[in-house]
Amino acid sequence: MNEKILVTGGTGYIGSHTTVELQKAGYEVVIIDNLSNSNIEVLDGIEKITGIRPVFVKGDCTDIETLRKLFRENPGIKGIINFAASKAVGESVQKPLLYYRNNLNTLINLLECMPEYGVKGIVFSSSCTVYGEPDVNPIDETAPIKPATSPYGNTKQISEEIITDYIRSGAPIKSILLRYFNPIGAHPSACIGELPLGVPQNLVPYLTQTAAGIRKELTVFGDDYNTPDGSCIRDYIDVVDLAKAHVIAMRRMLDGEDTDSIEIFNLGTGRGLSVLELINSFERATGVKVPHKIGPRREGDIEQIWADPKKANEVLGWTAEVPVDDTMRNAWAWQCKVCGK
Ligand code: UD1
Repeated sequence: MNEKILVTGGTGYIGSHTTVELQKAGYEVVIIDNLSNSNIEVLDGIEKITGIRPVFVKGDCTDIETLRKLFRENPGIKGIINFAASKAVGESVQKPLLYYRNNLNTLINLLECMPEYGVKGIVFSSSCTVYGEPDVNPIDETAPIKPATSPYGNTKQISEEIITDYIRSGAPIKSILLRYFNPIGAHPSACIGELPLGVPQNLVPYLTQTAAGIRKELTVFGDDYNTPDGSCIRDYIDVVDLAKAHVIAMRRMLDGEDTDSIEIFNLGTGRGLSVLELINSFERATGVKVPHKIGPRREGDIEQIWADPKKANEVLGWTAEVPVDDTMRNAWAWQCKVCGK
């Protein structure tokens, strides 16, 4: 096999885990990353796990000539997995143009290069944010798309539309849009994981940093929601499970003879967990207490959302497998490694 895959944003959190799974499946990986939210040592972690160092290009996908040079110098790339994007919801409200420029120009450049260099398929990282606050849970792929509540969320919706329109226009490519729920955890080897810059905005890195004593206490954003324990509910999915779905999606696009040119899948466990349940899971799995207090609701938060992953289960033959306690243990092992515990 040894087909060549371009992973944009490949030194980032989900990109690095996906690179590992692609290599384990026999694919050759070329990474492009501008290192704006990751560092070069991630390549050492990948190599430690798989024994293979991916080809690395430091560059920005918003510059199409950088991409063309990459495709010329690495001929035979058959597929792209696009993780190169900005992802902080709050920052996107402050700096909308940065988000539209990064996320949309990158995608448009990649799509434009695909026919030029014979690239057959692109996997796109979308988000359950496109569903907004669901009318029913679990939510499947046929649910309506709701107006985005942040520029970040809007870039995901617009990106899905750009890809759809391009394929409808007759472009000779395939695409699979993966709508992630909440990816958490780290590789069980603790060689790679999430490396948030500054104060983490997402729950699990904040939680593990609090357990490590870097943060004083975790604030649970609201306990007066209409949920069994009053805290918000999400579908937390292990990052390695998530990474494996990308390999299956890529294989489907490259090898599937009669699959649709564009397909959409939810990637979640099908199980909703509240913030308080997740804290309990962490404490149970690691034996480490997480100092926490209840605070006010966070503006823009969705009350509850979890996936109906049946389509991915049946069509892709993919199911989330890692129990959440194991995921929390892996997140903790990674946190301990990062802070030298
Ligand atoms: C958010 C985005 C989602 C995006 C993802 C990227 C929204 C509505 N969703 O997901 O589109 O793809 O980030 O990373 O903005 N929480 C606390 N205390 C904390 C941090 C979080 O209680 O210190 C709670 C939140 O209220 C939420 C849950 O933990 O209920 C998960 O929060 P987070 O990890 O930030 O993810 P989302 O907001 O679900």
